[in-house]
Amino acid sequence: MSSPYEQKKHQSKGDVVWHHSTVTHQDRVLQKGQTPVVLWFTGLSGSGKSTIANAVESQLMQQGKYSYLLDGDNVRHGLNKDLGFSDTDRVENIRRIGEVAKLFVDSGSIVLTAFISPFISDREQVRKILEPDPFLEVFVDTPLDICESRDPKGLYKKARAGEIKQFTGIDSEYQAPVNPEIHIKTAEYSIEECAIQVVNKLEGLGYLKGAQ
Ligand code: ADX
Repeated sequence: MSSPYEQKKHQSKGDVVWHHSTVTHQDRVLQKGQTPVVLWFTGLSGSGKSTIANAVESQLMQQGKYSYLLDGDNVRHGLNKDLGFSDTDRVENIRRIGEVAKLFVDSGSIVLTAFISPFISDREQVRKILEPDPFLEVFVDTPLDICESRDPKGLYKKARAGEIKQFTGIDSEYQAPVNPEIHIKTAEYSIEECAIQVVNKLEGLGYLKGAQ
């Protein structure tokens, strides 16, 4: 069985020919005994995306699951170090991560991503890139005033002082999810509780069992 990834890529690309893998997507999924899925964390800077995603990954690791976390700040040190924070660059940031997430899904992994990903259209575009693989939008819903009071990297202070331009929530827009699959309110729960909510949802949807 060819993977959804292969099926899509297969259709296109002029002189570039798709090479089929000897080890198939199905082989990888059976080997790992889980259903690959993307958990797409979105929220303001300082909302807790990375922290909760890390806590979720730890819980998955304890259950013997295979996962990988793609984190905005880290990816911007390497793959996306050529990108800034204009709207155009943010769109490209998220497009690339959608493609990378698809590769990890093809490998049979549970993928967690932690990017502000401020625009609804980009998140929906990733959902489409991934189809028919599952994409679960995880809204890390922390009000701006709480993010700003936490200010773990001192960036809100700089943004308010005009030292950083186009800062999300200050002078660049954040479009909150309308109907996220998972809605986490970090002001009301501890990090562990938030992580448990995500893992319980994954369990409830059957992703931690063998292939669906
Ligand atoms: S995204 O908008 O393109 O999805 P991404 O998640 O990759 O953003 O990176 C956000 C991180 O970059 C923030 O957590 C913060 O540490 C840092 N950062 C630096 N400048 C900005 C800015 N202008 N707006 C938002 N985040 C910024």
